[in-house]
Amino acid sequence: MRLSNEQLARYQCDGFLILPELLSADEIAAMKSELQRLESVDTELIVRERDSGSVKTLYRVHEVDGSTASPPFRAVGRSPHLLTPAQQLLNDEDLYLYHTKCNRKAAIDGSIWQWHQDYGTWKNDGTPEPELTTALIMIDEATEANGCLYFIPGSHRLGLLDAEMDDRTTSYKFYVIPKQQLIAIMERSPEPVAITGKPGTVVFFHCNILHGSGHNMSRHDRWQVYFVYNCVANHPLDVANPRPDYVRSTNWAPLRVESDDMLARQPILAK
Ligand code: SIN
Ligand code: MN
Repeated sequence: MRLSNEQLARYQCDGFLILPELLSADEIAAMKSELQRLESVDTELIVRERDSGSVKTLYRVHEVDGSTASPPFRAVGRSPHLLTPAQQLLNDEDLYLYHTKCNRKAAIDGSIWQWHQDYGTWKNDGTPEPELTTALIMIDEATEANGCLYFIPGSHRLGLLDAEMDDRTTSYKFYVIPKQQLIAIMERSPEPVAITGKPGTVVFFHCNILHGSGHNMSRHDRWQVYFVYNCVANHPLDVANPRPDYVRSTNWAPLRVESDDMLARQPILAK
């Protein structure tokens, strides 16, 4: 699927673009059943909640190898639904997946991701330019009650802001925007937008947009999946103590658009 010039202009202005119910109910069901299968895998590619042990984040579902490999997820990342718009948004044919992650916000207990910019972490990975876009897939309906994302429209145009490291609030280290700086930005910005939608909705967002999400007050788990696309030419440079491959992929081979029917094409997984 190709984005129109109007959609491309909206992304450049707002820093995000919502494509309601882009993926079908069957495609979402296939991904959901993969998440249920992968939940019980014992692997370092899954971050679990400290208390309950339930999955918080599950990484690297897009490759053919590894403990969390998943044919439906591999296919959707190369489908024209996601890859073609990502190529248009980054104005580059040669993209690779920086990482993929599946976030589960558990019913009642699932807690916040503070306001942050993703590129804060990715710059420290050695990634030269903020030339990345993320495709968020809503597996469950995203609502304000169950902890949907919020974006500050246009905030990607502020560039990368000073951030501080927080290793207490979420289950992993996270660069967050200090409160006073955040309030000052909010005072001169449009109101944050709640990114709600039905299952199958896809949202592309810029790596410098300010975003966060709230507590899940509902009785339903909320799964969201994130495919982060980077330009091959923008792959990370060498850094001391690089983060693991599952968050900072070193597979820079350019992706090519494959079948638009992810359910029809299920590659054999490597052993
Ligand atoms: C994130 O911003 O990295 C995750 C937020 C969420 O899944 O709610
Ligand atoms: Mn984020």
